[in-house]
Amino acid sequence: MRYIGNKAKLVETIDDFLKNNNIEVEGKIFCDLFSGTATVADYFQDRCHIIVNDSLYFSYAISAGKVKHNDNFFKELGFCPFDFFNSQNTDQYKKGFCYNTFAPSKSGRQYFSDENAKKIDFIRDTIDKWFKNKMINDDEKLYLIGSLIESVSKVSNVAGVYSAYLKKWDPRAVKDLIDITSEHKDDDFYKKYMIANSGDNGIWLCSNHHGLFDSHYFCFDSENGKIIINTQKLQENSSLMEFFNKITTNRQLPNEVMSEKTKIFLSKNQINIE
Ligand SMILES: C[S@@+](CC[C@H](N)C(=O)[O-])C[C@H]1O[C@@H](n2cnc3c(N)ncnc32)[C@H](O)[C@@H]1O
Repeated sequence: MRYIGNKAKLVETIDDFLKNNNIEVEGKIFCDLFSGTATVADYFQDRCHIIVNDSLYFSYAISAGKVKHNDNFFKELGFCPFDFFNSQNTDQYKKGFCYNTFAPSKSGRQYFSDENAKKIDFIRDTIDKWFKNKMINDDEKLYLIGSLIESVSKVSNVAGVYSAYLKKWDPRAVKDLIDITSEHKDDDFYKKYMIANSGDNGIWLCSNHHGLFDSHYFCFDSENGKIIINTQKLQENSSLMEFFNKITTNRQLPNEVMSEKTKIFLSKNQINIE
């Protein structure tokens, strides 16, 4: 990404320097101090234990995302977040902080095109929503924020830092942040996600809640989306009640999920408990 002092073009030189001076890094602790974009840490992380530091939160997000990323990421979410973002329709993008602060229509400033600013807002808000609903954990959240920051730098209308925007639109800034014509629209995950949230066939729950919901340990009020607990069934097993209370921090479905179809679906399941 574009960042003053980014060592992307220097990592191989750094590696050569270490080799030429017989400095063994394999299995050693490698400190990428003042890590910025964490480009150096990323380059060496397959061979070393990495320590990074930087006082900026953006760098912390990028570094944590790059260094902690592993194959188990997004298992709970159940689908690829990048494919999800790529498959979103622009109609759904809302106007938030980025649009109001950095895009021309509202603020007169042209750090980002209106469309891209809306997309950034949508993605950032969705990351928070997923985190709040425990669909992603801390590390996954940071990984997504870091990825968003990297993507944003590809469509920002700046010379290199964000202290000023360019008066004319740089060609890269008028490109789409997300390719919504993406072939991912037809991917299985997307279909599953849309079906799961359409109300036709259920609602999107984590695997634990899914199992408990299917077994009628709880259901939702079809009018307001509030959880109704099947206390009798849960109390048959005291540890299950404890487990349920532990994993259930949200007790009401978000408004956007409560479509007419979803309400019908919920009302059918509600009967099983009452
Ligand atoms: C030139 S950049 C590092 C670039 C990095 N090597 C890369 O490849 O992206 C310097 C970094 O030092 C960080 N920094 C400056 N003073 C710091 C301090 N006192 N404590 C921690 N980080 C600091 C800045 O936030 C900045 O990201």
